[in-house]
Amino acid sequence: MADARHRLLSVVENLDAHVRHLKEEGVREVSVQPETLAALSRAIDAEGSSAERAVRAPSSAPQAAPAPVQHKEPIAMSQTLKSIADRVAACRLCGLCTTRTNTVPGQGSESPEIMFVGEGPGADEDAQGLAFVGRAGKLLTQMIEAMGYQRDEVWIGNIVKCRPPNNRKPTQEEMQACLPYLKEQIAFLKPKVIVCLGATAVQGLLNDMTGITKLRGEWRSFEGIDTMPTFHPAYLLRNPPAKREVWTDLKTVLEKLGRPVPAKKR
Ligand code: URA
Ligand code: SF4
Repeated sequence: MADARHRLLSVVENLDAHVRHLKEEGVREVSVQPETLAALSRAIDAEGSSAERAVRAPSSAPQAAPAPVQHKEPIAMSQTLKSIADRVAACRLCGLCTTRTNTVPGQGSESPEIMFVGEGPGADEDAQGLAFVGRAGKLLTQMIEAMGYQRDEVWIGNIVKCRPPNNRKPTQEEMQACLPYLKEQIAFLKPKVIVCLGATAVQGLLNDMTGITKLRGEWRSFEGIDTMPTFHPAYLLRNPPAKREVWTDLKTVLEKLGRPVPAKKR
């Protein structure tokens, strides 16, 4: 029961954080599925807690601040990531929700030194609900291991959490709609370095339309976090000689982190 209560409070709290985030981003309207509202309302009814009063403010006072949520004990950290993933799973903020099989919130360590950000799920990712599990993902794993990490020691995610049909590039609108989830993940995970994989990741995160060939290898900052743009592993599959540049960029990342550069295999 206490668990259910914590889950509900966490959902409401995260919903509130997400809406505030959207507001900061200039979003003024959010469409909500009737089923979502109904499910929330049922959960609140079942709980019959103070959350009810907070959520159901009388309509005559729409500006009333929600009652502060009191936690008797801290919510487990991973609850935040789970809450983000749950909201992503129910998200219909952009058109990509109509063609996805599974949402792909991203996965990995909850205290990663490095966060890898790609473009969006492909067919394999859409089928499994996991980021970078196809051919490009295998190459990303090799890159991570060449850096001296295991895959589960870093975080792996994408700009958009639903697969664009036929792997087309996500539109600016889709990226903007989805970005608050990634920002919440970054705020929670607090990586020391973000690696942007490919031009789309740079466009989505840094809003910079410059080509990746020009941007790669030079440090940028995302909300104070050192951010390194490099080529996308899918590009490396088509153009293997570019692995040399990516390795240079990844070595720059290791230097920044004060990590030794492992001797290259082969
Ligand atoms: N390409 C991406 O950008 N992301 C994935 O998760 C897989 C392939
Ligand atoms: Fe929501 Fe992002 Fe999926 Fe669009 S891509 S429906 S914003 S989770």
